[in-house]
Amino acid sequence: MLKHPAGKYQPFAPVNLCDRTWVNQTITQPPIWLSTDLRDGNQALIEPMNVQRKLQLFQMLVKLGFQEIEVAFPSASSTDFDFVRLLIEQQLIPETVTIQVLTQAREDLIRRTFESLQGAKRAIVHVYNATSPVFRRVVFGRDRLGTIDLAVSAARLIKHLAAEHPETDWHFQYSPETFTATELDFAKDICDAVTEVWQPTPHHKVILNLPATVEVATPNIFADQVEWMHRHLARRDSVIISVHPHNDRGCAIAAAELAQLAGAERIEGCLFGNGERTGNVDLVTLALNLYTQGIHPGLDFSQINDVARTIEDCTQLPIHPRHPYVGDLVFTAFSGSHQDAIKKGFAVQQPDALWEVPYLPLDPADVGRTYESVVRVNSQSGKGGIAFLLERECGLVLPRRLQIEFSQVVQQVMDDLGKELTAQDLWRLFEQEYLQATSPLKYVEHHSSKVLDGDAIAVTLQLQQQPIVIQGQGNGPIDAFIHALGLTIRVHQYEERSLEQGSNAKAVAFVELVAEFAQSPLHGVGIHTNIVTASILAVLSAINRGLQKMAQSQQVQVLQPLTKMK
Ligand code: KIV
Ligand code: ZN
Repeated sequence: MLKHPAGKYQPFAPVNLCDRTWVNQTITQPPIWLSTDLRDGNQALIEPMNVQRKLQLFQMLVKLGFQEIEVAFPSASSTDFDFVRLLIEQQLIPETVTIQVLTQAREDLIRRTFESLQGAKRAIVHVYNATSPVFRRVVFGRDRLGTIDLAVSAARLIKHLAAEHPETDWHFQYSPETFTATELDFAKDICDAVTEVWQPTPHHKVILNLPATVEVATPNIFADQVEWMHRHLARRDSVIISVHPHNDRGCAIAAAELAQLAGAERIEGCLFGNGERTGNVDLVTLALNLYTQGIHPGLDFSQINDVARTIEDCTQLPIHPRHPYVGDLVFTAFSGSHQDAIKKGFAVQQPDALWEVPYLPLDPADVGRTYESVVRVNSQSGKGGIAFLLERECGLVLPRRLQIEFSQVVQQVMDDLGKELTAQDLWRLFEQEYLQATSPLKYVEHHSSKVLDGDAIAVTLQLQQQPIVIQGQGNGPIDAFIHALGLTIRVHQYEERSLEQGSNAKAVAFVELVAEFAQSPLHGVGIHTNIVTASILAVLSAINRGLQKMAQSQQVQVLQPLTKMK
């Protein structure tokens, strides 16, 4: 990079529009959408689409609700020409849809374009020529008048050829290509000269499309340019102002949104921002940005994954995992604090209430995404995410303090493995840590009965491969079991819940014990169809986990009261 880029690059000149009004506007309705996936998007592909692929994409665009679709540049390739013929001859264009085709402002190309449209019920003929100083000077060697002349001659020929085919409902569109780099007074003059030829009316408008062929300035400057045109164009009531932002500076979405505030009524772009270089403006993001403001965009992205897969198929280009609304990771939180907030948000979100789940600007279900990927667990995650996954995927709701303890177990494994853990991985870890803590004391069976002042229990355990039977009484079966164990332990916290796994409803018991032999509280979990068994298993899980952390000799000492029963 240059040390002093000012000698090579210059800042964009601001537009003299001190009384700009777009800053105080808000978007209250969707624009007219035009998809140029089959033209601008297609022109930008390494391998342009064949007729079958184009048809597949056309049909999807129709299904999504597009009413204007730029289907081809018929004079540029036989595939494009044939595709237009196929749509017309096979009557594949629904009543609600108007096809658009692009042509350069050249007589032979315009004639060929009209040939492709023979027999169409309705069509938009879109003609363009480049208007910026560098194109006039370097590419075409034409001055301002010569450039206007080119556009006007093309407009006249289009009008003439259209008149020869009154069976078609014709609509016309003109683009001053490279508009954003064109002097505004000249952009106005050339647009006015074209509309002077076409003589539109409020009932039969023309489209003036203002392309950011290359995005050269900040979106506020584009908005100023659009507002300037909106205020100065002749025959404004007979003109639809359209914009066609490209994304060279990465601001195409903002440019399109601000342009609407500034008077643009129509937007041309591609799904997921395919298109030349950095792409055309992404119509999906624009549409869903509107949706998240409570405005239906008039396009249906209820099954966004299907749309994405079709686009990837047709363009042979992958969609970035962080692409707004559609990327594989955009509804995913890895960070612990985000996961925690999402978990809390989901817990209170009511189905018909305003959407208020933190970190998720859109309910993934509205675009056909599942909640599966919302929380994923890696080394950045915390207890909230782990608990969320176990709850959502395994139906297991952990008490808060157990969440904290288990997250430390997970963190340890994560640090060792250094990779993401799935809900299944977490479940396996949970099983290993709590449910398979069956040594040195293993449950075999129990019998409980009611006695005058509570419950009596007899439990058979296995200790060092030998069965032992212990008996006790208490004010409930767990209390009776604790007494039977004869260890100095106290139940600090006990919770039981139900767990739906497959068709079996099971009980989960969680205990937190305070034991004389352990320095910190011991958590244990038991799962069984019988709640008393689940509770006994939970107590044993906690004791075993505590004992497993001790040296063998200390273990023997703690278990002395029980070994005597062998
Ligand atoms: O980007 C552009 O300027 C175009 C025109 C042909 C509208 O695609
Ligand atoms: Zn373009």
